[in-house]
Amino acid sequence: MSKEGPIGVFDSGLGGLTVVKALIRHLPSEDVVYFGDTARVPYGTKSPESIIRFSKENAQVLLKHRVKMIVVACNSSSSYALPLLKKSFDLPILGVIAPGVRKAVATTKNKVVGIIATPATINSRSYHQEIAQQDSSIRIISQACPLFVPLVEEGWFHKPVTLSVAEEYLRVIQKSKADTLILGCTHYPLLKATLQKVMGQGVELIDSAREVALEVKKVLEEYGLARGGSHRAKYKFLISDEPAHFQRLAKRFLGYDIKDVKKVLVK
Ligand code: DGL
Repeated sequence: MSKEGPIGVFDSGLGGLTVVKALIRHLPSEDVVYFGDTARVPYGTKSPESIIRFSKENAQVLLKHRVKMIVVACNSSSSYALPLLKKSFDLPILGVIAPGVRKAVATTKNKVVGIIATPATINSRSYHQEIAQQDSSIRIISQACPLFVPLVEEGWFHKPVTLSVAEEYLRVIQKSKADTLILGCTHYPLLKATLQKVMGQGVELIDSAREVALEVKKVLEEYGLARGGSHRAKYKFLISDEPAHFQRLAKRFLGYDIKDVKKVLVK
């Protein structure tokens, strides 16, 4: 691993671009290679076995690009595959669960925290375990929201149907009086406006992207892998299916157009 290598980031599809956006902002001289497994998205409704297998293959795609560290931007992958990835590969690997929880634990005042995520992430209880480890006095209310990912993939951020779905899913969290809501899925930050409207201004929405970027910075420094100076960073985007849909929606996640997206074989 060399300092000059890029940071590798993978997700099941588009959503991990929210993490790339935060990396660009907080680590402007680091190169990034992103891999979105668009041929197999969604992961959030798949079995743990499939999620683990896909995650391992995604890490292998990134390793071919000589990455110096891997960020597992997908919550479903972080929930199931992180320990195995850490055991299998000899480089720093970071998931998104612990950084998001750290922020939620620091934010909640009434010690009631809601979690919304894919069914896979909720069933894994990864957030529950991490919260219990960081602060066992916190009460947790969780809700799987499987319809949110397709709504975001369609770009339906502000449609009435999205608001209705959000009202339905969030009812149980509202009843719990949680003052903090973890957006435990890469796609949900795109629904922030709608979610905030449903939950009300008094509830803090936790999006882990910034926390993850700051943690990446810390890890790179710890390992002596941080690339300082005035290097002009390069960004590479790889996916496993046709680029057209990815390119169309990428701007919404990343904030700018991506011209060059390459389709690669996962194996
Ligand atoms: N990336 C997934 C996650 O954060 C959401 C999309 C999917 O279901 O694959 O859990």
